[in-house]
This record gives sequence, structure tokens and C-alpha cells, in this order.
Amino acid sequence: MSTSRPLAVVVLAAGQGTRMKSSTPKVLHRLAGLPLIQHVLESAAALQPQHLVAVVRHERDRVVASVLEMTPEALVVDQDEVPGTGRAVEQAVAALPADFEGDVVVVSADVPFIDHRTLGELLEQHRGASSGATLLSAVVPDPTGYGRVVRHGDGSVEAIVEHKDATEAQRGIAEINSGTYAFTVAALRTHLPRVGSANAQGEKYVTDVVGLLTAAGSTVGALAVDEAWRIEGINDRVQLAAAARRLNDRIVQHWQREGVTVTDPQTVWIDRDVSIGRDAEILPGTQLRGATSIGAGAVVGPDTTLVDTEVGDGATVRRTDATLAVVGPGASVGPFSYLRPGTVLHADGKIGAFVETKNAEIGVGSKVPHLSYVGDTVVGEHSNIGAGTITANYDGVEKHRTVVGSHVRTGSHNVFVAPVRIGDGAYSGAGTVVRKDVPAGALAISVAPQRNAAGWVEGNRPGTAAADAAARATDAPTTDGATA
Ligand code: UD1
Ligand code: CA
Repeated sequence: MSTSRPLAVVVLAAGQGTRMKSSTPKVLHRLAGLPLIQHVLESAAALQPQHLVAVVRHERDRVVASVLEMTPEALVVDQDEVPGTGRAVEQAVAALPADFEGDVVVVSADVPFIDHRTLGELLEQHRGASSGATLLSAVVPDPTGYGRVVRHGDGSVEAIVEHKDATEAQRGIAEINSGTYAFTVAALRTHLPRVGSANAQGEKYVTDVVGLLTAAGSTVGALAVDEAWRIEGINDRVQLAAAARRLNDRIVQHWQREGVTVTDPQTVWIDRDVSIGRDAEILPGTQLRGATSIGAGAVVGPDTTLVDTEVGDGATVRRTDATLAVVGPGASVGPFSYLRPGTVLHADGKIGAFVETKNAEIGVGSKVPHLSYVGDTVVGEHSNIGAGTITANYDGVEKHRTVVGSHVRTGSHNVFVAPVRIGDGAYSGAGTVVRKDVPAGALAISVAPQRNAAGWVEGNRPGTAAADAAARATDAPTTDGATA
């Protein structure tokens, strides 16, 4: 690509996105985990322009935050009340340094699949042909809603006419305007002030610059893209879902080609920033979101949602919901586990069925196998937390920590009333309510000794099925526990 001329890229993001019918601005709706506008900004920034301008108006604070998150170097321009893409570009150009001479690439924040390679080709053609403008077009099966590229008899571009302003004959044109262009800044400075708003939408259209340029004798080029989906705009939620499906298919196929088994690509959703190691298996109904990473040979799913979660090599995570959690190599999670932020399960550990964890570090080889809540807790290595254990971490005012050592065996149905510490190698009996620290190697018991009232059913529930069964029993235990 020629780098002889300075470049500005303008991202149009001021529109309301009425057709989304949403309280969230259209350009902040997400695709593969990323707002639409961030997909576009990423491609725009990859051109390494001298100036990256984002034009905002509707919900400007929210949109600006998203812009600056992706591209802190961006110049934000607030569009005034004059509506239309032409006004947006006009104000962006006005915000460039007065001595800026070069090219302006214009992209729409609602056309998320535009890639920097296509933008680079557009710019190269534009510069090579010394055109006043070059637009990216495509021939699509259903051009409804798009601006159409009207050409002269000799095939050269004459104008763009919006769908709402087009004649029946023009609506028959299958070549559409993608809303992506390269202009010389001079063409914009000359013609944008002359663009009016006498059209079906009462807006100042950037597309009118094309007709003004050709009328003034300048050439306008068009680069037709083969992959028409790359320039599809997103205007409503039907298109958003279709785009999400398409992008997901591409992401899944990428990982399949990298050596990941995805048994049912239709029900597996993988965000753009996820990474997956070789020979990992992603089973049906699994969503990998945010910055999730999956290690080599790990098995994830079925029916699992992981958000910003790290899964180590060879780990297994079945029917699990996890956010901001770490699952160590060889560890096992699920089925039906709920890992909340701050869960760190070390190598070869286990978080089993119906277990909820939060801010819990569980050491190498340690297990929380069944029906438990473990929060604000540290467990050492090779310890076992009995079934049905609750860490009572909240006193109604503050959260407190439970610290369990290594090689600890806690009994079933324990409550750890935090703050409390269990020393290395300690045990606790079934049903213990641990309110005091347990020294290393001690056995903690808090339940009262069991007492059996012999013959109580016969005396207090005579004539019931239980009393009859007791009377028939030949193996009734005696009060000291031995069989009769
Ligand atoms: C626009 C094009 C159309 C093209 C289509 C491709 C115009 C007049 N029409 O139509 O030829 O086929 O894109 O997707 O340009 N925006 C602003 N300020 C505004 C209005 C819009 O910044 O005042 C932004 C929007 O946020 C959006 C982009 O410009 O990102 C396009 O606006 P939209 O209203 O979606 O234009 P389309 O009707 O799709
Ligand atoms: Ca649009």
C-alpha cells in the first residue's frame, strides 16, 4: 500500500439505530463478545491512520467509553442536530487539522465484518486511480434497504441513490453501497457543504458527494467485494443474530482447524478473544465467553457456560457455570457446579456436583465433591471437604474467611462459622458446627451424643404402619447399637 499520503479514518457512530428498538445504542450491541463498534475500530486502527475519528451523538457517553476502551488514541467528534451521514463526515473533517491533506476512509460502526485487508485494498485502488472517491460495493441477492450504485452507460459510477429515494428501476439494481469509502479530503471539503437534505429522510447524505463529484467531472471508483457478507450492515436484531451465527461459525471452524474437537458447532458459542489448546473437546451446549482460555486436552461441556475463565490442560468441566474462575490442569468440575469469581481450583482438584464456590482457593489434589457452598475460603493440599458442607462466611455485616490446612478430612454436613481455621491433618465429625479453630491433627466434634428411646414408637404411635413394622422386626438394634 502506498503510504505517501496521510490518512484519516472516520467511524460513523452517531445514529440512533432506531430499528434495533433498544435502550442500548445499536453500535454497542455485541457480536462474539465485542460491541459492533469495537470490531470496526479494530479494523480501522489496523490501517495505522494518522487520525482516527469517531463521530457520536446518540448516547454519546456510553459510545465514547467503548471507543476509548478499544482505541484510546481516537479523536471523538460530537455531531450536532443536523441529521445524516453527510453531516457526520463533514464534522469529522472539520475536526482534522486545517493543513491535513490526504485521504479519508469512512466506515460505519454498524458494518462489523469490514476487515483491514479489504480497507487496505480500497485505499490502494483509490490512490492508484487518483479518484475523488472510491466506494466499496457488493452485488447481493437482496439489496432492499441499501443505497444502490447507479452507473453510466460506460460502466463508470454515476451516483448512489438511497433505497427510499430510488425509482422502481433503480431498486432493481443489485449492486449496493456498503457505506465504506475512501475520499480525498479535498473532495469532501469541496462537496459536503453543498449537500442538501431534500430527500425521503430529510437527511444530509454522504452518498450525495458521489453524484456531485461525477457531475463535476471527477472519477469515482468502486471496488466490488466478493464476500458480500463482509459489508452487511446491522440494522435490526434479525440481522444481528444472523451476523452472530456467521461469525460464530467462522470462530468454531478456526478452532477446529487448530485441532479442537467441537462435536456440535450449532450449539457451541465461542467469543472472539477465547483461546483453546489442541485436542480439547468442546461438547454441545457450551458457551465460552470473554477472555476464557481452555488448555490442551481439556474436556468442556456439555451445557457449560464459562466467562473469563481459565481451564488448565487435561481438566474436565461438565455442566458448569463459571465466571472469573481458574481450573487447574487435570482438575475436575461438575456436573452442576457454580464457580463464582475468585474460584481457583489447583491441579488435580475437584469441585463436584451441586457445589457453589466464590473467592475460594482449593489446593492441589483437594476435593469439594458434593452439595456444598465454599466461599471466602482457602483449602490446602490433598484435603477433602465432606458432602453438604457450608462455609458460613457472612455474619450479616461482614464477610469472614475459612482457612483449611492440608490433608484435612472434614465430615459430612459441617458448617464452618467463619472466621475459623482448621489445622493440617485435622478431622471433623459428621454434622459438626465448627465455631472454634481446630488444631492440627485434632478431631472436632460438636454434636451431642445420640440417645435412642427404646420402644418409643410402640408406646407413642400404636397402630401405625411404623409400629407394626417395628413389631415384625427381628433385627431391631438394641439401645447400645448391637443387633438383637
Ligand atoms: C447507509 C448508506 C447506504 C448504504 C448503507 C450500508 C447513507 C445516506 N446511506 O445507509 O447507501 O447502503 O449505509 O450499510 O449514508 N450515522 C451517523 N450520523 C447520522 C446518521 C448515521 O453517524 O446522522 C452513522 C450510523 O450510526 C451508522 C452509519 O452512520 O453507523 C450508517 O447510518 P444508517 O442510518 O445505518 O445508514 P443506512 O440507512 O444503513
Ligand atoms: Ca446501516
